[in-house]
Amino acid sequence: MSFSVRASASPHAVSPHSADSPAAPTEADLLAFVRRTAADARLIASLPLDPQGRTWIRLEGPAGSEAWLIGWPPGTGTGWHDHGGSHGAFATATGQLIEQSLAARLPTEGWKVLELADGIDRERRLAGGDSRAFGPHHVHQVLNTSPERHAVSVHAYYPPLPMMRRYGRTGQVLRLEQVEWPQEWT
Ligand SMILES: [Fe+2]
Repeated sequence: MSFSVRASASPHAVSPHSADSPAAPTEADLLAFVRRTAADARLIASLPLDPQGRTWIRLEGPAGSEAWLIGWPPGTGTGWHDHGGSHGAFATATGQLIEQSLAARLPTEGWKVLELADGIDRERRLAGGDSRAFGPHHVHQVLNTSPERHAVSVHAYYPPLPMMRRYGRTGQVLRLEQVEWPQEWT
């Protein structure tokens, strides 16, 4: 599991945050939010489900974070992507998701095709109630591999996603395919 280390301010430092600007949420804060929200049965049941594609509702995340409730029909997935330097957390509410990730930090700029080292692939299964946090350099894809069951999950990111890089993958070769900006998904 990839957790970033939170830079802690000196106890004598003046906080840069005012009452109008709450302190940035930690990974623990994001994790607590996605767990709590995934346990809200009424909210989860309010998400419309479409067998043809993913559905989503934007949520109010903690302390200015970006959050989403997402429905995943059987056989859908995100494709490989990063989160533009944001850290985040997600929790499965119903059904089951598979997360495939890379246990390596990729250079973020200056390449279009990258040969991945052997042995850096990771896979985890997140059933209802399971959750995970990830750091700002995390590259993954999330899939609902079930042949018949929808999955619903809750996701939170901080800072709000500035952009996402999308990758194509063939074997150990990763290709940068697209950079998506917030206006394309909000
Ligand atoms: Fe993601």
